[in-house]
Amino acid sequence: MREPERPAGPPPTGIEGPEQPGPGRDQESEAGTGRPAAAGTTRRIVAFGGGKGGTGKSLVAVTLAIELVRRGMRVVLVDCDLGGANLHSLLGMEYPKETLSDFVLRKAGSLAELVVPTPVVGLGLISGARNAIQVANPMYQQKMRLMRALQHIDSDAVILDLGAGTHYNVVDFFLLADHGVLVVVPEPTSVENAYRFLKAAFLRRVKAMDAGLGIREILQDVVRPGRRHPLVPAEMVLAVAERDPAAGAAIERELATFRPLLIINQVREAADLTLGDGMCEAARRLFGVDLIYLGHLHHREQVWRAVRAREPAYFERPGTPFALELSAVAGRLIEVPTPGGMRP
Ligand SMILES: Nc1ncnc2c1ncn2[C@@H]1O[C@H](COP(=O)(O)OP(=O)(O)O)[C@@H](O)[C@H]1O
Ligand SMILES: [Mg+2]
Repeated sequence: MREPERPAGPPPTGIEGPEQPGPGRDQESEAGTGRPAAAGTTRRIVAFGGGKGGTGKSLVAVTLAIELVRRGMRVVLVDCDLGGANLHSLLGMEYPKETLSDFVLRKAGSLAELVVPTPVVGLGLISGARNAIQVANPMYQQKMRLMRALQHIDSDAVILDLGAGTHYNVVDFFLLADHGVLVVVPEPTSVENAYRFLKAAFLRRVKAMDAGLGIREILQDVVRPGRRHPLVPAEMVLAVAERDPAAGAAIERELATFRPLLIINQVREAADLTLGDGMCEAARRLFGVDLIYLGHLHHREQVWRAVRAREPAYFERPGTPFALELSAVAGRLIEVPTPGGMRP
């Protein structure tokens, strides 16, 4: 059964989504300790999202995956852009026959059989769904099944490329991964969309919290339409805490474990270099969320030329200005502990 259709984007408050998210990933795993470090598991799942299309989510996902392979890691890229899969194209490949559709529609028993080799030795790809209509709106249980299967890919890292927008389907994958990475470009629209994305993620996470605390009900009340300004999450937490200190404390605890990562891509001038720190400061103030800033990547003529020419080999070349910046970003990413504590 498919969940009911609804327009893209969160509802006004983001609280009254059509499906109830289940427990978070850690609660799902054995004894709440993260997944077991057995063979046939991946060590970390990194998802790239962040609102606006065209910021470079796919490009950064692919090139970062290549950089991790260059560092000796076994990496699988998964194209989770359910409406616009294009990682194969960035890797200069034809559309693989096997895709995520086969898993979602239960034509394939495991994800492992859908991993195809790419021109980059050591990098596998699970291509995006071909029939977007059939899989673009999976139910929460289907997403959890996919996430569980992703955890059992035998690799050092699984990189998920998410679609644009703040739809809960995108947000859920962002939240279920070990690390959700926002890819933002120095443009007001991108920055705005990133905040919108964070807010949607915040509300989605709160919604997944223990309903017994009545947080959803209190929130629904405090964000009631008719207010002059929509509340930012920090104000929501305060409003909840005023009504119910225990519920407020629970949200704060939950928020403390929400540590999205941030990459500023397509930097063009010196002034752009302050955006990352500025966004971290604003996210702390407005959202009570501590972003982890991984660094920036300049806009490079050679990068889009390589994309246009379908030549991923460019990204395997060490020492280019792009590769050097990417390496710094990858180094910081590897240093971020995974929530389950399962470090390589
Ligand atoms: N750092 C960069 N330098 C030059 N071009 C870039 C850079 N990052 C992204 N691009 C270009 O921007 C376009 C959009 O990138 P893409 O990864 O498809 O965005 P998204 O997945 O966020 O929609 C592509 O043509 C890509 O080549
Ligand atoms: Mg993309």
